[in-house]
Amino acid sequence: MPAGWWALRAQQTVSFGKQVLPVLTNNCFKCHGETLQLSGLDLRSRATMLKGGQHGPVIVPGNAEQSRLYRLISGQEKPRMPMDGKLGDAEVATLREWINQGAPWEGSETAAAAPAAPSTKSLEDMEIPAEARNYWALRPAIIGLSASRCATRCRR
Ligand code: HEC
Repeated sequence: MPAGWWALRAQQTVSFGKQVLPVLTNNCFKCHGETLQLSGLDLRSRATMLKGGQHGPVIVPGNAEQSRLYRLISGQEKPRMPMDGKLGDAEVATLREWINQGAPWEGSETAAAAPAAPSTKSLEDMEIPAEARNYWALRPAIIGLSASRCATRCRR
């Protein structure tokens, strides 16, 4: 790539609200948000990203290559995220830049713009690839975890 490319790119600050949050909202929150926190991971705040999931922090601010979140969405580590699809190159690049710029979180600490949690019905209707179904079937502990979290807040 041309020598000036990186410098040019690096000057563009990624907008968290306009570019990053929509990617997370549209692709991640249904499995790592209000209703489900698969692998113990809640992506709705910087703090919970830093706390991470079962394998520890998922972002290293300033270093996308060391960030598990980036490694999973770019396919460098398996299983690729989102588990039910694939981000476009531009979306992967946006999240990479955002982490490299220190993962600034605008507004409140928790994603205020997050849509209402999907209802249980919409989760039932959600298309889940065989891979994910198998995963859930094999790991009842995770479902148990989210169910027990739910027990304190949801009517069941
Ligand atoms: C369909 C459900 C689903 C969606 C959508 C999804 N994930 Fe995941 N995610 C999972 C599951 C299941 C795991 C646990 C995988 C494993 O450990 O084998 C996981 C694990 C992860 C982990 C590792 C957590 C840890 O314990 O270290 C990260 C990071 C992650 N996901 C990021 C994302 C991001 C970013 C998105 C959106 C671009 C996303 N996921 C979308 C189901 C999902």
